[in-house]
Amino acid sequence: MKFLDLQWQQGSLQPALGEAMAAVLASCDFINGAATREFEVAYAAYVGSTHCVGVGNGTDSLEIILEAAGVGPGDEVIVPAMTFAATSEAVLRVGASPVLVDVGSDLVLDPALALASVTERTRAIIPVHLYGFPVDVEALASMAAPDVLMIEDAAQAHGATIRGRMVGSLGHAASFSFYPGKTLGAFGDAGAITTSDAALAERARRIANHGRLGKFDHELAGRNSRMDSLQGAVLGVKLAHLDSWVARRRAIADRYLEAWKGLDWLTLPAIPAGGQHGWHLFVLRVDVRERFRSHLHDAGVPTGIHYPESLPELAFHRGTVDEAAYPIAIDAAARVVSVPIGEHLTDDEVALVIETVLSYAP
Ligand SMILES: Cc1ncc(COP(=O)(O)O)c(C=O)c1O
Repeated sequence: MKFLDLQWQQGSLQPALGEAMAAVLASCDFINGAATREFEVAYAAYVGSTHCVGVGNGTDSLEIILEAAGVGPGDEVIVPAMTFAATSEAVLRVGASPVLVDVGSDLVLDPALALASVTERTRAIIPVHLYGFPVDVEALASMAAPDVLMIEDAAQAHGATIRGRMVGSLGHAASFSFYPGKTLGAFGDAGAITTSDAALAERARRIANHGRLGKFDHELAGRNSRMDSLQGAVLGVKLAHLDSWVARRRAIADRYLEAWKGLDWLTLPAIPAGGQHGWHLFVLRVDVRERFRSHLHDAGVPTGIHYPESLPELAFHRGTVDEAAYPIAIDAAARVVSVPIGEHLTDDEVALVIETVLSYAP
């Protein structure tokens, strides 16, 4: 059994993938070409935003949104303490200060703590839809001052919804990663910004392409973070399958949740109220993690850790924050274990994961 099986996915998408890539090769239009544009239009429609700007990767998309919104030195941005390093890296890279806030028992930003951390310097909050759990961004926005931007980090949440709305359309702008292992993944690095703010989208597009929209209209000092046309072509083919993959992930998650609900020695992932999880990862919490992982490994069930350290524990934050303020994130980082979830899993493999967890003696 594989934790992630990109070979399976590639096989299941032929010949469409090969044809889409061959068309890019034939065009020799390799960067920001027609395939990128077509994907941008399709992804904006999928998410329910007016604009999508393809960029080089998810981290750049966060950074470019912040820069396009004018967030920089002297500004504070609220970031959950349990996420991938990129969320706070992006804030630091634009010269602003990440303000780390502990997560709730659902492992996403605690809204009360986030709002209590807002100061007159706060320019934005970055709710992270961690593991695919959709944060209720609209509820958070309704409680925050209107000038505090909501920037969704949706890197792990393709296809997740809240009250029927896709993540990526809930805040002022959203960041997506299409890293190969993501639920919607490219064949290399790629990312996107979605927003319904036309001015923000245009500024982001300029920043990502040397400050220009055309060939030589360099209006500002931008950078180079564009989506390769090959990635646009691959993502366009995969997007047509995203809903069925997410549906399969939900069906597997339902089986896990039902099978393990009586186990008092593990913490199951939280279920969003009024929303649909994207189930990029299925993350349990257990006390003696390595023993549990060995038990699964011995039965042929691979596992992962997302993430072994919370943000306050990372070298570039350590010493700048008081770790005592993040009890839930720090406890989670010590106890999280990701078990296989994905459209590649057969029913027999799902059954093996279930039985192996049930047969563990804590
Ligand atoms: C929550 C989160 N934010 C941001 C990123 C950054 O995306 P990328 O790896 O495409 O730069 C990731 C990628 O793993 C992520 O999981």
